[in-house]
Amino acid sequence: MDKVGVIGAGVMGIGVAQNLAQSGFYVKLVDLNEEILEKAKREIYDHVRFHQFYSQDKESFDPSEVLSRIETDVDLEVVSDCEFIVENATEKWDVKEKIYPRLDNICSESAIFAVNTSCISITKIGALTNRPDRILGIHFMNPVPLKPTVEAIRGVYTSDETIEQAGSILSRMGKKYILVNDMPGFVSNRVLMLTINEAIWLVQDQVAKPEDVDAIFKECFGHASGPLETGDLIGLDTILYSLEVLYESYQDPKFRACPLLRQMVAAGKNGRKSGQGFYTYYSHNS
Ligand code: NAI
Repeated sequence: MDKVGVIGAGVMGIGVAQNLAQSGFYVKLVDLNEEILEKAKREIYDHVRFHQFYSQDKESFDPSEVLSRIETDVDLEVVSDCEFIVENATEKWDVKEKIYPRLDNICSESAIFAVNTSCISITKIGALTNRPDRILGIHFMNPVPLKPTVEAIRGVYTSDETIEQAGSILSRMGKKYILVNDMPGFVSNRVLMLTINEAIWLVQDQVAKPEDVDAIFKECFGHASGPLETGDLIGLDTILYSLEVLYESYQDPKFRACPLLRQMVAAGKNGRKSGQGFYTYYSHNS
């Protein structure tokens, strides 16, 4: 299990690959093109260096050494010799739907697939393969290397052994997990997506400016960040796709995405990763 496949090198894939490499795993990181993979490597280097600079006497890592344990490729085939794979591709059913049958074909029968998804049903993904017992959800939190706990999701057919093996990888990554049963959105995002969407409605309805919505949560409720800052951090495109999954899964209008969210995503204002969302961000990588 020392070699781990990581699919998708976006916000989450970068964090998962970094955390695994820092924990001594050898990582095979896959995305659609070289440009994305090069950007991912630059970001990992910068994140590790930043952490090294600020960690003082706490544990720190050498960025070049971390990167030396991450191999990148545009061909999914490279993960065929990995016994554990974390999939972090875009939160769209038509994207994930194509990945799993292929993984099922190229990987050994014993390999475990961990789905890092915000909302998509783990049981539905398991049904795309001949190994629903070896598929679980691991909903990592963002930024991955800094968050100590994940939400683990047991699909209808996920075996105890799969949960145990995933638990031992998570433990090596320095993480605890809280196990919940499969239903779209699980615990975290069935609640969080509604909160973020409603906060966007407040801005659209001109009840308050983004900074005032967030200030209510931080200064009145004592939250570490407000819902719009959280939306920017997650990625507003990911928020929209998650709401679409929830809306379709439950056929419930409470999950209807706010038109302002749709407009921002159409305009490429996807939050922190694009440099602009409810707030403006500056990065030499963007
Ligand atoms: P992202 O949009 O930043 O990155 C997704 C990456 O997947 C992109 O680089 C894209 O090129 C790549 N991709 C698309 N199709 C692919 C394919 N067939 N093969 C390989 N790579 C492919 O999205 P993000 O935020 O990293 O999310 C990834 C997954 O993690 C989603 O399912 C999301 O719901 C979930 N998630 C996101 C969190 C967040 O805070 N952003 C938190 C927890 C889970």
